[in-house]
Amino acid sequence: MRLTETADLWWKNAVIYCLDIETFFDTDGDGRGDIRGLSQRIDHLAELGVTCLWLMPFYPTPDRDDGYDITDFYGVDSRLGSHGDLVELITLAQDRGIRVIADLVVNHTSDQHPWFQSARSSRDSPYRDWYVWRDEPPPDADKGVVFPDQETSLWQYDEQAGQYYLHQFYKYQPDLDIAHPEVREEIMRVIGFWLQMGLSGFRVDAVPFLIDTAGALDAANLPDPHDYLRDLRAFLTRRTGRAILLGEVNLPYPDTRKFFGDEDGDELTMCFDFIGMQKMYLSLARQNPAELIEALRERPDPPEEAQWGTFVRNHDELTLDKLTDEERQEVFSAFGPDKDMQLYGRGLRRRLPTMLGNDLTRIKMVYSLLFSLPGTPVLFYGEEIGMGENLAAEGRSAVRTPMQWTNGPNGGFSTADPKQLAGPVVEGELGPEHVNVAAQRRDPDSLLNWIKLLIQRYRESPELSWGTCTILEHESPTVFAHRSEYESGSVIALHNFSAEPAEVTLAVAGSGVGVRVADLLTGKLAEVDTDGTLRHPIGPYGCCWLRVVHPGDRYIV
Ligand code: NOJ
Repeated sequence: MRLTETADLWWKNAVIYCLDIETFFDTDGDGRGDIRGLSQRIDHLAELGVTCLWLMPFYPTPDRDDGYDITDFYGVDSRLGSHGDLVELITLAQDRGIRVIADLVVNHTSDQHPWFQSARSSRDSPYRDWYVWRDEPPPDADKGVVFPDQETSLWQYDEQAGQYYLHQFYKYQPDLDIAHPEVREEIMRVIGFWLQMGLSGFRVDAVPFLIDTAGALDAANLPDPHDYLRDLRAFLTRRTGRAILLGEVNLPYPDTRKFFGDEDGDELTMCFDFIGMQKMYLSLARQNPAELIEALRERPDPPEEAQWGTFVRNHDELTLDKLTDEERQEVFSAFGPDKDMQLYGRGLRRRLPTMLGNDLTRIKMVYSLLFSLPGTPVLFYGEEIGMGENLAAEGRSAVRTPMQWTNGPNGGFSTADPKQLAGPVVEGELGPEHVNVAAQRRDPDSLLNWIKLLIQRYRESPELSWGTCTILEHESPTVFAHRSEYESGSVIALHNFSAEPAEVTLAVAGSGVGVRVADLLTGKLAEVDTDGTLRHPIGPYGCCWLRVVHPGDRYIV
């Protein structure tokens, strides 16, 4: 294995963990998590095996969109801590081999941002052109509204400005005009600032919206918006070759592929695999992996130094927007039949355990899938212990509840009065009394220990992250079988999507006398027939990762 390369291209086999400081750990008792709290709990992430921490927005904000409405791109919200606290956190993380990235939310600002305040105050403001204005909204102003429960148009009339401004998200998030050279330059400065503070890159919010210049009056005459992403990447690489851009791009595969750039990958370093995620849920609902397999076959290979970001859950609604209406209904009926569990007609505001009826075997199978599929796994805080949601919280906040550390008051998150918490804790079967870090650390069968094991094996199996993946044909329709190969190593993973046990018969290439498979998750060995046939049983919702071992191989299992 080319060890130097695996260190340089660290994102290819990273374990990314996303969290919101506000809901992680509160040290000053105000009900809101803080940077010092996260620093105190950094060893939880280190023990889990996380190699990259993604911080959701921590910038000053009126907090109308959970911090995605920013009033100062260079600041730290004083309720969370200071720049000093952040640098300490980054230092502590680095000391444990964890890189830190943060959300870069530059498609828009808050309407309270001083730039927008100035822009709206006068046509002569130097910031006027930093936003997108029109005297009349275009005829298709209502097309593409992202939050249909609260918005009806992408254009909002501003009394003070005497014009309409573009906002692709909420009306209090006016879009910046990235066609404007000064805006582009300022975004570079923001990136340069945080790199210098020690960040290792960014999760770039809403990338297709960011580079969409359709709102501009002379859109037809603007240069290719992908040039802008290329510029950003080039700037990042000039400043530090070790930083990444992980993009939120929820588009069909061929369109998403374009965001990686040319063959050498000169735009985003990583893109989330939204399509694979949605097809995975459809497959889970059907207890049949066919749809996931089809997605993997269609998924373009990223450029050699780029990578897909794979995930089971994130901080937003579980979007199912790329499924057909019937397919979406299937997933709704299986995993979120009540209207209250659904959001915007396109997604679910639930976490995985509740969707799967808290069936631990099935939940474990899904995470095994996540860590064995090609791509870099991205976890959302609380997934490692199987937290549920609180539907009493508004909208997407249902899945943004406080981290559950202990079975004590507020799940050990804060000593504040429960009414003052940044969000309500989960109640019932998946509340902190039953689901918490402290208990799961000591339980060998817990989800937490399962995910630790998956991470260890994933990190020591370059086949999974660096290798070539082949989907294996066999006769059991409910079992997903794939093989990942890298140099001389080969790992076969089996996942049973159904509640019925199964047996698969596979042809293991390159076999001969004495070839065996070693289950990386249990240590069990099984013989491969001399003709290369492997017969392997697999339990209901079972999973295994089988390393092909030839006589004389020196793998540790
Ligand atoms: C995408 C983020 O994931 C979401 O949480 C946010 O509301 C929108 N972008 C607007 O910034």
